[in-house]
Amino acid sequence: MSRLSRGLHSSVLDNFGLEAAIGRYCDDFSRTHPIKVNFELGDSEFSDFTRDEQIHLYRIVQEAFTNIARHSRAKTVWVKFDHTACELQLTIRDDGQGFATWDGKQNLSRHLGIEGMRQRTAIMGGALDIASPPAGGVEISLWIPRRRAAPAR
Ligand SMILES: Nc1ncnc2c1ncn2[C@@H]1O[C@H](COP(=O)(O)OP(=O)(O)O)[C@@H](O)[C@H]1O
Ligand SMILES: [Mg+2]
Repeated sequence: MSRLSRGLHSSVLDNFGLEAAIGRYCDDFSRTHPIKVNFELGDSEFSDFTRDEQIHLYRIVQEAFTNIARHSRAKTVWVKFDHTACELQLTIRDDGQGFATWDGKQNLSRHLGIEGMRQRTAIMGGALDIASPPAGGVEISLWIPRRRAAPAR
């Protein structure tokens, strides 16, 4: 099961749903890295996201965690989903060293992780923001409109 969720076998999503798939991924991650994961799901409701969109969301979380494992030296990660009637907000924050290893001059074509997260967010009509908060670490926030809901009257 855990190996499936790392690779995100489609049956995990279909049988257990996105929150279970991400929850398992977080469990796996904290077991295989010396990093504590705080996963806050809120009143999650992903049923108005298509299967492709749910895969985008999963891949975004996966890429953010891969970066944290590779580059951050963080001890703790916070993943938080916030849902409102009109949007989904996802925040992934770590308490690592921030963009210490990134001088902006690296060959961009070799570093497509963040660009990929941006593109997946854009495909869903959303926006992504990356910040290095003064307190340290990296914070990735994204907002995705829930345009599928029937318009309020
Ligand atoms: N959580 C993070 N903490 C510190 N540095 C980060 C973090 N995420 C990304 N980075 C920096 O941003 C760079 C670009 O990330 P990315 O686009 O995913 O490419 P890659 O991971 O292949 O280097 C990384 O090489 C790293 O220097
Ligand atoms: Mg990366």
